[in-house]
Amino acid sequence: MKKSDIIISLRDITKSFPLEIGGVQQVLFNISFDVHAGEFVAIMGPSGSGKSTCMNIVGALDTPSGGTYELYGRNITNLGPDELAVIRNEHIGFVFQQFNLLSKRTVLDNVMLPLMYRGLPMAERERRAREMLRRVGLEKFESYLPTQLSGGMKQRVAIARALAGDPKLILADEPTGALDSKMGNEILKFFKQLNKEMGITIVMITHEFDIAKYASRLIHIRDGHINYDGPMPKTDRNL
Ligand SMILES: Nc1ncnc2c1ncn2[C@@H]1O[C@H](COP(=O)(O)OP(=O)(O)OP(=O)(O)O)[C@@H](O)[C@H]1O
Ligand SMILES: [Mg+2]
Repeated sequence: MKKSDIIISLRDITKSFPLEIGGVQQVLFNISFDVHAGEFVAIMGPSGSGKSTCMNIVGALDTPSGGTYELYGRNITNLGPDELAVIRNEHIGFVFQQFNLLSKRTVLDNVMLPLMYRGLPMAERERRAREMLRRVGLEKFESYLPTQLSGGMKQRVAIARALAGDPKLILADEPTGALDSKMGNEILKFFKQLNKEMGITIVMITHEFDIAKYASRLIHIRDGHINYDGPMPKTDRNL
C-alpha cells in the first residue's frame, strides 16, 4: 500500500488524565498504528482498556499527552479546539452508542446539522439530507422526532447524519451497544456496504466479536497497549 493512502497515522500516542487525589493516571501507552483509505477496522478490548480514549484522539475530539497524530498527512497533534472542530466537520462522520440526536428536532433537521457550517444554501442542505435518509431507508420519516423511532431507526438517522457531510472516514464507538442483535447486524451490514461500495474508511469500537467480524482488521487493546493488530481472526479465543 502506498504511503499516500494513509488516512490515520498514530505514533507513540500516550494519554494521561489528572487524578483528583493528585498525580496522573496513564491510560494509553505508546499506541502506534496506521489506517489506510478503504480499510474497515474494529477495535476491541476490555472495559476501561482505553478504546474510547484512543477513538477520541483519532476523532480530534481530544488531544494526546504525547506522540504524534497525522490525519491525511497533516500533523494535527497540537492544534487548538477551533482548528480541530473544523477538521472534524470536514473529514469525519461520527456514530455513537447513544445516537446523540437532538430530541426536539425532526429527523431531517438532525441529518442537516453537519451541513450548517458548509455555507450551502438551505435547499441544497435539504436535498442532501433527504438523499442520505433515502440511503438508510428512512425517507418517509423525515418529519418525525427521534423519540418516535426505534433504536435501530435512530441509529440509521445518526448514520445518515454522519454521511451528510460526505466524509471519507466514519468513526463509530459501540454503534450497536444500545441495539438488539438483529438490529445490530443490520447496522453492520450497512456499514459493510458503505465500506465496500463507497470506499468509506470505517474505524469501529465494539464489545462483541460477532459485530467486530464485519471488519477485516482487528486492533485489540488491553490496559492501554495494543496486544493484537492484524487480520480479523476466526475466533476471539486467543485475544
Ligand atoms: N476524561 C477523563 N478523565 C479522567 N479519566 C478518564 C477520562 N476518560 C477516560 N478516563 C479513564 O481512562 C480509562 C479508559 O477509559 P475509556 O473510556 O477509554 O475505556 P474504554 O475502553 O472505552 O471502556 P468501555 O469499554 O467501558 O467503554 C478509564 O480508567 C477511565 O476512567
Ligand atoms: Mg468506551
